[in-house]
Amino acid sequence: MEKILVLDFGGQYNQLIARRVRDHNVYAEILPYTTPLQTIKANNYSGIIFTGGPNSVYDMSSPHYSAEILNLGIPVLGICYGCQLIAYMCGGRVDTAPVSEYGKIEFSVSKDSKLFKGVPRQSVVWMSHTDLISAPPQGFDVSGFTSDCPVAAMENTANNIYAVQFHPEVTHTECGSRILYNFLYEICRCSGDWVMDNFIDATVKQLKEQIGGNKVILGLSGGVDSSVAAALLSRAVGKQLTCVFVDQGLMRKDEGDFVEKTFTSLFDMNFVRVNCAGHFLEKLTGVTDPEEKRKIIGTEFFNVFWGEIRRQGELGYFAQGTIYPDCIESGKGDAAVIKTHHNRVSTPKDVEFLGIIEPLQQLFKDEVRRVGEKLGIPKELVWRQPFPGPGLGVRIIGEITAEKIEILQNADFVLRDEMAKNGYEKNLAQFFCVLPGVSTVGVMGDHRTYDHLVAIRAVTTDDFMTADWAKIPYDILAKVSNRITNEVAHINRVVYDITSKPPATVEWE
Ligand code: XMP
Repeated sequence: MEKILVLDFGGQYNQLIARRVRDHNVYAEILPYTTPLQTIKANNYSGIIFTGGPNSVYDMSSPHYSAEILNLGIPVLGICYGCQLIAYMCGGRVDTAPVSEYGKIEFSVSKDSKLFKGVPRQSVVWMSHTDLISAPPQGFDVSGFTSDCPVAAMENTANNIYAVQFHPEVTHTECGSRILYNFLYEICRCSGDWVMDNFIDATVKQLKEQIGGNKVILGLSGGVDSSVAAALLSRAVGKQLTCVFVDQGLMRKDEGDFVEKTFTSLFDMNFVRVNCAGHFLEKLTGVTDPEEKRKIIGTEFFNVFWGEIRRQGELGYFAQGTIYPDCIESGKGDAAVIKTHHNRVSTPKDVEFLGIIEPLQQLFKDEVRRVGEKLGIPKELVWRQPFPGPGLGVRIIGEITAEKIEILQNADFVLRDEMAKNGYEKNLAQFFCVLPGVSTVGVMGDHRTYDHLVAIRAVTTDDFMTADWAKIPYDILAKVSNRITNEVAHINRVVYDITSKPPATVEWE
């Protein structure tokens, strides 16, 4: 399989670069800038992309790379910091820009270039830089500029080295997709063999060989990743696979039944559902701190799972739905932890496996979904909005009780039902109800009530790093509010969260 290396210098869009390359049917993998040149040589890449980064190339602590990488005969594309780094490595000049460019900027192509084939002479690009190239290195031609950036693109065609100051990977760059396409197909001469059908065939074949006649066990959370991993393994080894579905009672209304029905009716596998809502509630009694709740829910999920494996007592492989973003080692070092997310787990000492199988570890989320669809998982499951690992546990603020779970499930069900009926789901990246644990005074009939308030959270976003609160039409909100207060016992008030991320996060905890 042909592949492109995205060499990570710590910029915020680095995963996006790899995703955009894969959108053009070429496999891309991300490695940190600390990767030895020997490794890069050994990997036989069709092209290398230097990513952006937060630093200045003259900053001694900023990430650099040996200039030898430019002599491997592999085409290179530098983006933003990567572009300046190429200039610096080859003896050009980088200076602090008199005017920083940020946002949408008009860009002019100034030379016929393979990189800009099919790109108009003038187009809008996305810029975000405070340094600029003031003099290109010897052997490089300027191929594009903006009003404040004399070298917005440059190239050394003899050595197949190209560089752009702007970000072709973001959608705000009008012809960004075309520019990446040109790099892959005009410059790197890729053929485009990264298609999901090939992935499924190759992975099923490889899983069959690896697993042989052995057993495989997979912890199914009901989320997209573990569901797709289960479907893929089922195709490869059928009944040798046992899925252990840990139902911790913190899923949306009727969701556990839906997952069970889907997997038992559509796929060839053994399916074990462990209903352990009571166990989780016990462990969560009196716990109010969000991080502690997350940890307990995450730990108990695996405790239940390991318990089931001990009970089954058969030696086999352990499969997980780990996906590519869980595995990437960023060029930035440790990013600050804002919330603990589920990630890879380590197995307890007394639980033995033949090995760990992670059939989705090369895939981004959108690719996982495409694979899921091709494997026949229903659209409602594959395209469902993200649902946090700790489930409703982080949507009930404060202590979790059985009564609160039921109230929240019922309110959330009404919200989802109304969004679906109005066809509004497709406009939203995520929407749900939150139970803040606040009681307020209300009036129902002639009676004063003192009952729960529920909040609606709905956001639009591409990447969940930032998000905007969704401008749901008032009449839909009115209907939701009416139905919740009428149909859900113990709710007498509904509020709508109108905070973006930042400063808030998507979830309330
Ligand atoms: P935040 O709240 O961090 O959410 O703005 C961003 C996205 O991540 C999801 N999320 C989680 N997912 N475990 C998960 O698997 C978690 O603990 C968790 N917390 C937040 C959230 O639903 C949103 O899609």
